[in-house]
Amino acid sequence: MKIQEIVDKALSIRGYTNCNKLFTLCKICQNLETLNGDIIEIGSAFGRSTMALILSSNKKIWSIDPHTGEDYGDRQISCEKSSFYEFIDNLTNNEVLHRVNVIRSTTEMAVLNEELIFSMAFIDGLHTAKAVKIDLDFVYPRICSNGIIVLDDYFEPSVQPYARAIDRFVKKMNVDLVKENELVWFKKV
Ligand SMILES: C[S@@+](CC[C@H](N)C(=O)[O-])C[C@H]1O[C@@H](n2cnc3c(N)ncnc32)[C@H](O)[C@@H]1O
Repeated sequence: MKIQEIVDKALSIRGYTNCNKLFTLCKICQNLETLNGDIIEIGSAFGRSTMALILSSNKKIWSIDPHTGEDYGDRQISCEKSSFYEFIDNLTNNEVLHRVNVIRSTTEMAVLNEELIFSMAFIDGLHTAKAVKIDLDFVYPRICSNGIIVLDDYFEPSVQPYARAIDRFVKKMNVDLVKENELVWFKKV
């Protein structure tokens, strides 16, 4: 499927990941063929970015989200109702639910088989310094060598503590943070 078609399909689902970010996400995802391991997403909401991940590769997608809404640190926005049922409906109506292992949980409470390895993670969950550190500590050991971790909202001015926590993590791991089309990503070496 062409990236433009994938992005159009993803944009037809309610969500927060914009067109530019979806393009970058799809491009990274389409270059994972030589890597072993599924894809993990933290923060799926109604399934917009999940749909982009599903359609960009043949890999299984693991979705972690308590479906309780967003938190931008000092600017809290909560969903009127859980995003869970709309998420399931969106995947079902597009006949892709079988591609996703749905974990309705915060990252902190999520339980995954120790042996699972991922080729890519997309982190778009709770946007606080503490939560993104939990997300990074959770996915990093499970990412294969040369696997990619992509993070959303690094450039969002209202969540600077979140961005600084990402900076601290990449410094500690001694990896380069690539800034591309409103997203940031790094490769596990
Ligand atoms: C910005 S939304 C995700 C948007 C989605 N990626 C899209 O493309 O529309 C953030 C999501 O993070 C989830 N979330 C909140 N706290 C979380 C936590 N502690 N762990 C994992 N996900 C969390 C929320 O329920 C919400 O659905």
